[in-house]
Amino acid sequence: MPSFATTRLAKSRLAKNFALKPIAAVLAGFMVSILAGALAVPAHAQQPIVIKFSHVVSPDAPKGKAALLFKDLAEKYTNGKVKVEVYPNSSLYKDKEELEALQLGSVQLLAPSISKFGPLGVKEFDVFDLPFLMTDDARARQMMASPMMGELNKKLEAKAVEPLAYWDNGAHVYTANVPLIMPEDFRGLKMRIQGSKVLDAVARELGAIPQIIAFGELYQALQTGVVDGEDNVPSNISTQKFYEVQKHLTVSHHGRLTYALITNKAFWDALPAEVRPGLDRAVQESTEFFDDTAAKDNEDALKLIAASGKITMHVQTDAEKRAWIAKLMPVHKEMQSRFGKDFIERIYKASGFVPPQS
Ligand code: LMR
Repeated sequence: MPSFATTRLAKSRLAKNFALKPIAAVLAGFMVSILAGALAVPAHAQQPIVIKFSHVVSPDAPKGKAALLFKDLAEKYTNGKVKVEVYPNSSLYKDKEELEALQLGSVQLLAPSISKFGPLGVKEFDVFDLPFLMTDDARARQMMASPMMGELNKKLEAKAVEPLAYWDNGAHVYTANVPLIMPEDFRGLKMRIQGSKVLDAVARELGAIPQIIAFGELYQALQTGVVDGEDNVPSNISTQKFYEVQKHLTVSHHGRLTYALITNKAFWDALPAEVRPGLDRAVQESTEFFDDTAAKDNEDALKLIAASGKITMHVQTDAEKRAWIAKLMPVHKEMQSRFGKDFIERIYKASGFVPPQS
């Protein structure tokens, strides 16, 4: 950025050269002020600040749409001082790479599933994958609004990651090439999981073989049989067309997909004061949009998948759900050693989850 001193010196030198010609002097003076004005404007005000927003889903999935809305709002509310480049479908970074890139500052905005935060060294986020912890939207909203999230946010900030908002994308369903009605139906299946240790324990408790596969590689892994099944929200299953390469879907609502809209802390803290209010407003409004539309998108996606006739859908009965809960409660117990009994009990309280009486 040019110093204040530089502009003043340039002025006096130029004036001296033009002393004898009044009009020329006036013109020269005019030119000097133009130049000085140009020199005085800080460099970054000229070049918009670029925010690269990378994500792994398709542009027409709930997160894809919210990311594009964020772009429009951020550019509008900062009068073009910020330019947002959205990279969907893992086109810039795949799952694990994107978190590393954020910490390095090579990308400025992400909205990954909090089930993928393990590699960040913040294992506490895995707790949200405890089976049947937050099956309904109200409980999920209650949990995300609880003061406990403040505690977890601090852990992210300690890893140079700034959480801006949480986007709840609803409950998971299972897909596979065999019907998944009772827990024993999982025995021996290779099941794709996201990175969390809790999801690993859930698959093992069901007798399945867990395999972490990047979202962008999942369609092919299902198509080629690298894995037999996976769990996800209907809007991902429909927009990625997983239902074309799976024969059965069980509406189980056993887990949840929650995103954290995150940025690089140093980048965000260093943003010029004049663009922050516009960006904060864009975060808030794209979050409201996400909250208002994701549930409907997932409902519509489930209808679309059913209407495709390409997959057999099974809605879990209450008796089946009780059998799954009974089968999976040992994972809650097992995770007491990982997170501490007290922490898990505080999560139960914050989310409203009541463990079934054994
Ligand atoms: C998954 O990996 O299944 C999801 O987290 C992908 C996403 O971002 O919705």
